[in-house]
Formats: sequence, structure tokens, C-alpha cells
Amino acid sequence: MNKIIIALDGHAGCGKSTTAKSVAKELNYVFIDTGAMYRAVTYSFLENDIDFADPTEVSKALDAISLKFVFNPEKGLGEIHLNDVNVEPFIRNMNITRRVSDVAAIKEVRQFCVIEQQKMGKDKGIVMDGRDIGTVVFPTAELKVFMTADVEVRAKRRLKEMEDKGEKTNLSDVIADIENRDYLDSTRKESPLKKAEDAVVVDTSGLTIKEQVASILNLAKKKIELS
Ligand code: DC
Repeated sequence: MNKIIIALDGHAGCGKSTTAKSVAKELNYVFIDTGAMYRAVTYSFLENDIDFADPTEVSKALDAISLKFVFNPEKGLGEIHLNDVNVEPFIRNMNITRRVSDVAAIKEVRQFCVIEQQKMGKDKGIVMDGRDIGTVVFPTAELKVFMTADVEVRAKRRLKEMEDKGEKTNLSDVIADIENRDYLDSTRKESPLKKAEDAVVVDTSGLTIKEQVASILNLAKKKIELS
């Protein structure tokens, strides 16, 4: 059976990564969380005090960055490594989350990440989640899904995730952050978040993770049969 590319795009906090992870596991595919790449670049820029507004400085900083996912057998998934250091523990906090949309809007950063993502998916058999996977990274992906959900539902899920990790925040801050990121991601000049014309929309507001996974697996299996 041929392997396919599954592109999972959509708004912040609608369960894309959780769903993509399970779909990949079921199909024995590789899961790639492209948001982690933009987060790792943001982390590097903040650590090195890079001026986001200076394209020369940004390009120089990118030249010194290598990103790769290293499989963690205990967790059963790949973790993002920045210059061979596992940065997963540092990239999901509010400080990075607040700045990542600005970094992800920079043309040079997007070019850098897209090239890496295309290399990662060249053998297919991947589930890649992000904002521009079906539109820019793999416009010929066999299956494109656009996930969305009501903002309050998304914020409550994100809040629970953060609380589970021991991070202190509150619902109104999380709602404000999600709305702001949706706005920035959808209105930026470079590869804005938008549904690919041939993407299937999955609204996860009333769905459990199990149901989200089942619905996407269903779509994937049909595409795999056809490929
Ligand atoms: O999925 P996430 O919340 O971890 O993504 C972090 C940020 O990275 C998000 O605000 C938008 C950006 N992003 C992007 O612009 N393109 C992608 N393919 C993935 C993420």
C-alpha cells in the first residue's frame, strides 16, 4: 500500500497535535509538529537577543540553527532538538507562545522551516500539523484537513493542558492569547493561515479527541486505498 501525506492545518488550540499524534501512531506514520519548529526558532531568537525586525540579523541567526526531531521511545514521539539540544521543555510556555506568531510571520523564518519540512516529508508516510501545510508546504498532499473549534472550547482545552503541566494562567488570558494568535496567523502577509480549497473541514467543538482521531483516520484510510 502506498504511503500518503496528511496535512492537518487549523486554528490554535483545536487539538491538531494531539489528533495528529494519534493518527500517525495508528497508521505507523511519522508525526511532525511544525509549530514546535517555529517555537524552537523563537526560543533561539529570544535566547540570543535577535532583533526580529532586522532581516540580516535574522538570516545570520537562522544560518546557525539546525532543527531536527529525535524519537523519544519512552514518549513514543519525536521531540524537537535545536542544535542537538532537546528544547521541548522550554518552548511551550507563555513567554514563547506570546512571541511565536511574530517570529512565524518573518519571511526568512518561514522559508527556512518550509524547506526543512519538505525534506522531512519527502518519503511520505507523515502526518504534519501546522497552519500552511496544505497550502504551502505540501500543496499536493493526498489528504488535507482544516480543523477548527469554538474559541472558548479551545481555550478551556489549552488551559487544562497548561494546568496539567503546572503552569499558572487563567481562562481569560488563554482566550485573549488564542484570539490574538488566530488574528496574527490569519492576517500575516507570508503564508497566512487559510483553508486549502480542497481541505476537509473538521469542527472539533463538540468532538472528543477519540472522535476527532476516528474521523480523520476514516478519511485517511479512504485516501490510502485510492493511492
Ligand atoms: O501549533 P502551535 O500553537 O504550536 O504553533 C505555534 C505558532 O507557530 C502559531 O502561532 C503559528 C505558527 N505556525 C505557523 O505559522 N505555521 C506552521 N506551519 C505552524 C505553526
